[in-house]
Amino acid sequence: MEFISQAADLYVQEHSTATSKLLQEIHDFTYQHHVEPHMLSGPVQGKFLSMVSRMIKPKRILEIGTFTGYSSICLAEGLAVNGLLHTIEMREADAEIAHSFFNKSEYKSNIQLHVGDAHQLISSINEDWDLVFIDADKTGYIDYFNFLNEHVRAGTFLLFDNVLFHGEVLSENIKGKSAKAIAAFNEHLKKINNIDFVMLTIRDGITIIQKK
Ligand SMILES: C[S@@+](CC[C@H](N)C(=O)[O-])C[C@H]1O[C@@H](n2cnc3c(N)ncnc32)[C@H](O)[C@@H]1O
Repeated sequence: MEFISQAADLYVQEHSTATSKLLQEIHDFTYQHHVEPHMLSGPVQGKFLSMVSRMIKPKRILEIGTFTGYSSICLAEGLAVNGLLHTIEMREADAEIAHSFFNKSEYKSNIQLHVGDAHQLISSINEDWDLVFIDADKTGYIDYFNFLNEHVRAGTFLLFDNVLFHGEVLSENIKGKSAKAIAAFNEHLKKINNIDFVMLTIRDGITIIQKK
């Protein structure tokens, strides 16, 4: 189930700034060559990530779930001068594709790609994050959140993607492992006192959290 009708989705896309040539190239390449192209953020969510990043002007961004690099470049668009985005991807083949696109980007020297399991790598990257985007294994969301909530300073923004999980979170009998994990994550946030957060119905749902 998708929340936004195809017609509304197209209308929204047509009434937003068109994406850059490079983002279009990543989009087209992913849809032509990858077996899971739907994982890519796409033009509207991509522009949203870019806008959020431009509002914050982060010096340091952490992204988990690089995939083919689309969202990384969107996020990098808002980096402060000499800012740095660290992005973690577990699958070497995806990381290689992303790397080739980063090399074509004006943000090439502002993006550091890490290949491996984010659960192991996250604690080894010693930075003071301004903005974090989590878009990887859904069963890891609570762990990622707990770790980040303990380590980031007050004011940091954390974005979590796919929090509606194709509408499966609305079901009374949630079946899939990832859908259950997302539902548990959404409930988990309600028990945390030191954050302010809002769930938005952009694409598959994004929750924006700010640590207080
Ligand atoms: C939904 S895709 C990310 C899409 C991308 N953010 C975009 O918008 O174009 C999720 C990615 O997370 C990666 N991933 C899953 N579990 C991971 C983990 N534990 N550590 C690092 N990457 C992981 C997957 O290999 C996949 O490429």
